[in-house]
Amino acid sequence: MAQTILITGASSGFGMLAAQRLHESGYNVIGTSRNPEKVQDSLPFKVLALDIADDNSILSFSKELFRHTNQLDVLINNAGFYLSGLAEETTIEQGRKQFETNFWGTVKLTNELLPYFRKQRFGKIITVGSIMGLLNFPSAAYYGASKHALEGYFKSLRFELNEFNIKVAMVEPMGFKTNILHSSVAAEGKMTDYDTYRNKIEQFSKDLFENAPEPTPVINTLLKLVEDKNPKFSHPVGKGASVFLAIQHFAYKTFEKSVINNINRFKN
Ligand SMILES: NC(=O)c1ccc[n+]([C@@H]2O[C@H](COP(=O)([O-])OP(=O)(O)OC[C@H]3O[C@@H](n4cnc5c(N)ncnc54)[C@H](OP(=O)(O)O)[C@@H]3O)[C@@H](O)[C@H]2O)c1
Repeated sequence: MAQTILITGASSGFGMLAAQRLHESGYNVIGTSRNPEKVQDSLPFKVLALDIADDNSILSFSKELFRHTNQLDVLINNAGFYLSGLAEETTIEQGRKQFETNFWGTVKLTNELLPYFRKQRFGKIITVGSIMGLLNFPSAAYYGASKHALEGYFKSLRFELNEFNIKVAMVEPMGFKTNILHSSVAAEGKMTDYDTYRNKIEQFSKDLFENAPEPTPVINTLLKLVEDKNPKFSHPVGKGASVFLAIQHFAYKTFEKSVINNINRFKN
């Protein structure tokens, strides 16, 4: 029987592409979106309504999910958004919202489905973190913090679910072309002291996203992870990801200097 894969945030970007590929490969795919009615007609897999930042939506979603399937093999926690902006210019309320979706939303949905996975004594939980959950750049303090938090959470959960034969893994992509910039939220406050630096960072980020590659390597990694019976925990994806991580780990000052030099390429 085909495995059933649930992918959150399947209306665009990584989630949509992974869901399409898994569907074409013969898996039974269920995707989610906050507005399924806008995307269902153009997608070949079932899309259910889910807002991971809303507790009631998570509750009604889990009921709806088991009306559509009586089996769940893999949960891919992919839904999330990017809050950009300098830390001090970002309001605490904005930071909280970032965590409500990227961290708490992911945790709450996972918790909602865990009793089901425990009962069947198998399953897999794959979470899309970010390279910014393993290192971080300026203008991504809260985004990076929410992704670092996911790393810590799922590292612990992986140990705890081992005896139930539930596998836990993370994928940590570098920058890839999706809708993420379009759906991002920018810091609300502006402080003149930061004008010069903000200007450079904005050009640096724009350059990074404009030159970002197509997301195929991330989709390939997600597919491999679905098929892998016993995946390791962490899967950084993207050109130079392992080198960046090694430099950060063994020579933090060299890493920092390279980020600063890259930002200083841009004039204010
Ligand atoms: N693109 C990159 O360079 C990159 C790099 C590293 C990590 N990531 C991570 O990859 C994941 C997917 O992002 P993407 O790049 O594919 O961006 P995207 O194209 O903007 O897709 C984001 C998806 O998340 C869903 N979503 C957003 N907020 C949600 C909420 N509150 N509840 C439920 N669904 C929500 C959106 O669905 P609806 O709007 O239809 O609800 C959409 O399908 C995110 O976790 C992101 O942090 C992206």
